[in-house]
Amino acid sequence: MTLFRQDLLRAGPPADISVPRKKHMLCLNESPLDPYRSIDEAFHENLRQVSLNRYFSPVTGELKKALVDYVGHGVTGKNLLWGNGADDMLFACFLAVKEDNQSFVLTHAPSYFDYSTYSRAAGLNIRYQNFKPDLSFDEKEYIEILNSADCRLGVLCNPNNPTGHLLSDDQILFILNNTKKPVIIDETYFEFSGKTWIDRIRDFSHLIIVRSFSKSFSAAGVRFGYLVSAPENVEEIRKVQTIFNTSILVQTFVLTMLLNRQIFLGQVRETIALKQQMFAEMKKISGLKTWATFTNFQTFSIGEKSAALFEHLKNSDIAIRDVGAHPILKNHLRVSIGSAEQNNCFLEAVKDFFEKNQP
Ligand SMILES: Cc1ncc(COP(=O)(O)O)c(C=O)c1O
Repeated sequence: MTLFRQDLLRAGPPADISVPRKKHMLCLNESPLDPYRSIDEAFHENLRQVSLNRYFSPVTGELKKALVDYVGHGVTGKNLLWGNGADDMLFACFLAVKEDNQSFVLTHAPSYFDYSTYSRAAGLNIRYQNFKPDLSFDEKEYIEILNSADCRLGVLCNPNNPTGHLLSDDQILFILNNTKKPVIIDETYFEFSGKTWIDRIRDFSHLIIVRSFSKSFSAAGVRFGYLVSAPENVEEIRKVQTIFNTSILVQTFVLTMLLNRQIFLGQVRETIALKQQMFAEMKKISGLKTWATFTNFQTFSIGEKSAALFEHLKNSDIAIRDVGAHPILKNHLRVSIGSAEQNNCFLEAVKDFFEKNQP
């Protein structure tokens, strides 16, 4: 008899995001802009109307309306569920689908690391289908695993973190057409890619879209994410959430962001423009390999010397992410798009590294 679940005891230490704390934090795909600074007065005005001593607030209804309006595509309040970031929505889905100790979730590798963190927390096993070196995958094999008896859910990260690429529409369609199992499409980077499958939730009753306010709305610290699916799925997933899982303070802040969304969507456009500049500059550096991404980050490699470059950047007060754990991304690093100034610092430091480390 143990105090806690056997699988937790076997699982090793809890997840720990260890990133260096540097002046230029380009490691977690955050925005360089604090959303509070853009909407502080409007937020305080809205907050004055709210009673924080109460469990319920009219803000919840207003937020639902504003989110429905933002999401569009004929989505209604019954299609929506929100929580403490996209992570929380993933966790809720994992909890809601787990059947027994054989149950597993299927996703790709390399993909978002914390699918494994939250499947483990929910007591679900996880299986990976590897992307091929050209980032394609075999959709027939994916379907075979997804439709096997113990697989409870498929997760497609689109665009995918940490590669930044979009999965092919035909392959996603093939998957949706050939399974009855729930399929999550993680659209955390939707506003950067412009690509969504929300318009297909009426066609596919097993489709669940997960989105975040952490990236495009610059609000990683606020913690707000939502999912969109058929009302009957939303009803089931709601059963694993705590009743007041998103504070009225957060709801008021998110409502204010949505009412001022032009500011944030403008910042997304600026980030995309900065990313294109960054991409063009990175492509000019001979010996550096990168590719177009549909997110707010670039993944790249300089081969064997990537680890040394990572250290050089750290010493230049710049934190980026080592994403080289999976064989197809061996020696790869990921840099988030920051402000123009931060991106310049990054590029200068990379060029400096090449100058000091001529072959
Ligand atoms: C693909 C993907 N999904 C989900 C998340 C988590 O987002 P949130 O901050 O809304 O929990 C991230 C964060 O980096 C991500 O990259």
